[in-house]
Order: sequence, then structure tokens, then C-alpha cells
Amino acid sequence: MSRVLSAENLARHYDVKRGMFGAMALIKALDGVSFTLDAGKTLAIVGESGSGKSTLARLVTMIEEPTSGRLVIGGVDLTNASHDARKALRRDVQIVFQNPYGSLNPRQKIIDALEEPLIVNTNLSSGERRQQALTMLERVGLRPEFAERYPHMFSGGQRQRIAIARALMLRPKILVLDEPVSALDVSIRAQVLNLLAELQDEFKLAYLFISHDLSVVRHIANDVMVIYLGTAVETGSRDQVFGEPRHPYTRALLSATPIAEPGAKRERIILKGELPSPFNPPSGCPFHTRCPIAFERCNMERPPVTSLAGHQVACFAAT
Ligand SMILES: Nc1ncnc2c1ncn2[C@@H]1O[C@H](COP(=O)(O)OP(=O)(O)OP(=O)(O)O)[C@@H](O)[C@H]1O
Ligand SMILES: [Mg+2]
Repeated sequence: MSRVLSAENLARHYDVKRGMFGAMALIKALDGVSFTLDAGKTLAIVGESGSGKSTLARLVTMIEEPTSGRLVIGGVDLTNASHDARKALRRDVQIVFQNPYGSLNPRQKIIDALEEPLIVNTNLSSGERRQQALTMLERVGLRPEFAERYPHMFSGGQRQRIAIARALMLRPKILVLDEPVSALDVSIRAQVLNLLAELQDEFKLAYLFISHDLSVVRHIANDVMVIYLGTAVETGSRDQVFGEPRHPYTRALLSATPIAEPGAKRERIILKGELPSPFNPPSGCPFHTRCPIAFERCNMERPPVTSLAGHQVACFAAT
């Protein structure tokens, strides 16, 4: 199995000004997460709005640099990689966003959008570029005549297929998918997820699949990392995390998700309080203010990530 990505204690903090005359404050959008990803596998990143998922996506795609921590992509440590090495790696990591309108230029024909990465990064002839773009268009389930159309002439699902095709033009090794199906109708969602699964097999792609929707994650992930206020609370295989969640936050999230098995029963765990403001995160364990099993130590110390029955869990009370 070949490792394509590993992150160690990855953090990204932002200095922001609060209000018009406000003092500066520090937001710890991501505050030390570690994980690995292998070729052909899917790691799902799950968390509520504001937990740091898109921040993580920006670090992995090298749109932004981490404040601290280490990122190794394709065996290259980015901490001390040269400009050229980074540039080469950028081809290997591509991203698909929730809303493909943001990544597709409304005035650009689909064929041109697909050829663009090849123009910028390769020396292919225009004939070769066109051929590769048409092949990819077909591969994502779209007809060749669509090549001459503009983004607004497509449905949401079709546009997402185009965004995926564009992301694959340079044959990346890693695809970061930031809520790729969240804006789609349920029926279309399954089709796009199936397409992603086929493409993963065919191109041996590693997926970093970001989602707040556990039913989607259950369908597609090999491993799952649950994050809360910028920290990983639990990481494990899909079966471990869904079957035997160890962290109280994971348990609460799962209890709020409908279960497929008929007759299965699960008690709904209602979390108290609101997600804390990132300007004023709780001391100790970031989850302790809402945790049903927190005790004194939890508001004093941040629980370290420890191995528990094959899961990585950050909780003093996890069993
Ligand atoms: N450039 C930035 N400057 C300041 N704060 C930021 C910046 N980017 C993100 N943040 C803050 O960092 C935190 C994490 O944001 P992020 O967008 O990563 O969350 P998310 O998990 O992707 O949320 P969502 O599910 O809503 O997309 C939020 O509190 C956000 O306001
Ligand atoms: Mg986001």
C-alpha cells in the first residue's frame, strides 16, 4: 500500500480583527491534527460547520501554509520543499468544491475549462489536449457535444461531474473533495458518489472526503476522522467509528443520524449548549462544555490522542 499523504500535528491559526475598532484575536481554525492517507483509499473528515474542514483542505492543496505541523505529500516533506518541488506536487493534489459554480468560469466553454490545466502545465499539442478533454468528459458520464456548452447550461449534478473531470485532467494522486455532494438532490447524490467510487478504482486515487453528512461518509469512507473546533477527537476505520464510537462527540453525532437497519434502535444523545465561539474556545478538552460525561480534569487539560481498541481517541473518559 503506498502512502500518499501524511499530516502531523497540522495547525492553522488566523489573526483577525474583531469589529471596527476591535483588538486582534487569534482563531485556531485547525489546532493540531494528524492522519495518513494511502493510494486508492478514502479518508473522510467529519465535523460541524466551523470545525476547520475547509481550512484543512486548503492546507493539503497547498493553497495556504500551515502555521505549524508537518505535511508530507508523495514522500516529500513540504516543510523544507523547494519552490519547484511544491509546484510539481500541486499537480498531484486537486480539489473539488461544494459549489462548482465557484470553480467554473461562466464565460468559458466546458472544453476550454478542461483543457486549461493542460495548457498551463503540459506541452501537449492542441489536438492532444482536446482529445484528452473529450475522453475525460466521456469518462465522467457526459456526452461529447456538451464540450461546446457553457456552465449555466448544465444541472447541478452535471456541473459537479465537469468539476471532477477538470480536477482529474492532470492525473492527480490525491483528490480533496470539500462537501462535493452536499448541494445536490439526494437522487443525484448517489450517482455522483458512484462515479467517484469508479474513478477512484480506475485511477487509484486517494480521496480526502470532507462532509458533515454521516450517511454519505458511511457509504464512501475507508477511514473516518471526526473533528471538533479544529482538533481531531476520534479517528478510525469506518466500521470502528460507526460500529463502536468511543468519543462522546462521535456518539452524539451518530445518534443524530438516521440508521438504515430496520428494527435497530438508538438513543438520541442531545448535546447541551451551542458550539463555542472560535474566538473563545473552552479550556482543556474543547468538547467539555457540551460533553455528557465530562469531569473536572476535562476543563483543565487537553486530552492527548491515545490508541483505544484500534481507534485514535482524544478523551479522558473514553472506554
Ligand atoms: N481566512 C480566515 N480568516 C479568519 N478566520 C478564518 C479564516 N478561514 C476560516 N476561518 C475560521 O476558522 C474556523 C474554521 O473554518 P472552516 O471554514 O475551516 O470550517 P468548516 O469546517 O469548513 O465549516 P463549514 O462546514 O461551514 O464549511 C471558523 O471559525 C472560521 O470562521
Ligand atoms: Mg467548509
